[in-house]
Amino acid sequence: MIQRDEIFLAVSGSARQASTNTALLNAIADAAPSGCRVEVYDRLAGLPVFCPDAEADPLPAPVADFVARVERCDGLIISSPEYVRALPGGLKNAIDWLVSRDEIVFKPVVLVHASHRGNDMLEQLRLVLSTVTRNFHPELFLRFDLMKRTPREIGEVLAEPEKRRAVEDFLQAFARFCKACRTEVSER
Ligand SMILES: Cc1cc2nc3c(=O)[nH]c(=O)nc-3n(C[C@H](O)[C@H](O)[C@H](O)COP(=O)(O)O)c2cc1C
Repeated sequence: MIQRDEIFLAVSGSARQASTNTALLNAIADAAPSGCRVEVYDRLAGLPVFCPDAEADPLPAPVADFVARVERCDGLIISSPEYVRALPGGLKNAIDWLVSRDEIVFKPVVLVHASHRGNDMLEQLRLVLSTVTRNFHPELFLRFDLMKRTPREIGEVLAEPEKRRAVEDFLQAFARFCKACRTEVSER
């Protein structure tokens, strides 16, 4: 069988221009080893507030674009700040748009995190994600202390050989998980 790249959609829970979470995802995309491709999605601020009445066809254009990206990817990587001991409203809003749809049900999902803080948010996000997909992998998790650093500094930190190796190992492990999930679905 011809091997193809695993494509990961990396969703940032922060809408901030100089977001550490978005910068971490960009650095992960830059470090992707052969066989993996990472597309960063940092447009949660463009999604309208979720309303079940608006789930009819056609979806609002930014939602349709987001859903199509989720459908196309082999797995989702999410990185988010903590706001008021919870996950940011924008990220929860995006997940709400997916919740009654087929695209998310078997989608492999993992978390990365750009801070030494934010454990309440991580706990909540784990609960939410394990509710919306059967293939959330809580143990596959990568965390760096990058709070208050600039995107440029984050690029430099992640370029350090040890960190780059950690990112490569993480992406390769996620690629194996995504393949295993596909095999399981195809054997159903
Ligand atoms: C409105 C707001 C609320 C926050 N609440 C918390 C919090 O409850 N706990 C925490 O550890 N950090 C909190 N923070 C700090 C952010 O989680 C932290 O700065 C994070 O690294 C920002 O991510 P970003 O750089 O990707 O935007 C808060 C920040 C803002 C703006």
